[in-house]
Amino acid sequence: MATGKYQHLFKPLKTAEIPGQEQFFKNTGNADVNRWLNGRDHLDGVALNFSWGFYTGLGDWHPGMDPHIHPYPEALGFVGLDPDRPEYLGAEVDFCLGKELEVHTFDKPTVVVAPGGFLHCPLVTKNVTSPIGYSFFIISLGADPTTRWMGDGMSEEQMARMRPDPDSGIKSPMNSSFSKKRYRFAEDTVTHGNLYTHYVKPLIPNTMTARPLDEEEKSLFGEMALNGRKPGPGLSENAVWMFGPDLAGMKLNFCWAIHSQPGLWMRGPGRGAHVHPYDEVLVLAGTEPADINYLGAEIQIDMGPEHERYVIDEPTAVVLPAGVPHNPIVTRWVDKPFGVLMISLGPDHQTTYVD
Ligand SMILES: [Fe+2]
Ligand SMILES: [Fe+2]
Repeated sequence: MATGKYQHLFKPLKTAEIPGQEQFFKNTGNADVNRWLNGRDHLDGVALNFSWGFYTGLGDWHPGMDPHIHPYPEALGFVGLDPDRPEYLGAEVDFCLGKELEVHTFDKPTVVVAPGGFLHCPLVTKNVTSPIGYSFFIISLGADPTTRWMGDGMSEEQMARMRPDPDSGIKSPMNSSFSKKRYRFAEDTVTHGNLYTHYVKPLIPNTMTARPLDEEEKSLFGEMALNGRKPGPGLSENAVWMFGPDLAGMKLNFCWAIHSQPGLWMRGPGRGAHVHPYDEVLVLAGTEPADINYLGAEIQIDMGPEHERYVIDEPTAVVLPAGVPHNPIVTRWVDKPFGVLMISLGPDHQTTYVD
């Protein structure tokens, strides 16, 4: 990657690989491997922490520790790895919501929303049917990952492992605390109601790559949907875009897709740089579970009003601060379909083209 004025905004996902982190949440249901970047350590202070990882295991993700809460809202995305089958997750999951431990079961790509202070989990993987497993991402709206654990099954050893060693000099990837009030997770304590069904949303392809937008939907995209702008060959018809109103009012919109084809992402007049009033983070992730450091594609993006061009060939998060022009984006070639997770920290995707 060339160096330049905007180089510091390119964050390889492997920068979040720190010794010991693999063991941090190492339970059977949890990630085989993941990368978890946060605003505090990796993303220039953006009010976000996000993860990307690969999963094949069965069982509880944090045995004995859940439910838990965060001081900020989060969205939890469960997605499959087949670019041609956006409806296929390849796993079946039980997700508990609220102090009622209301169980929601799904086996399709899904996003679960947990507002700030809202109890969520346990999360139990019941079945994995895809031979390569599935992927999962967290989008949490805080720069400093913070969790209060409320499960009644935590051992002293578990809690000790979560407390950072003050002498190590290593900042904990998760600030953990432990509630006095505890909840017991068992067959006779979970409930099966619909109090929180609105927090569980299927991820179904819905973007303008697949169909024309109506006027209300267009307003969510700002100028991206105006002046003859339309998707180019580099985008995917299987993209899913979720906005604040879809996400229980979170100040978040995100787009998830697996891209398979080279080409320009957006067609339209002019040179194609735009700005947003919100910070945006563009995550380019590989889809090869055997090697989380492999992207398998080469993607170029122009940065700034001067169109300084950068080339990405490893899994990377690109920080796009509010007001900084970016685009066009061109996928130069694809050896392996790659995941694109566009995270925008506002309820809609207000966009203004600058050239
Ligand atoms: Fe959480
Ligand atoms: Fe953008």
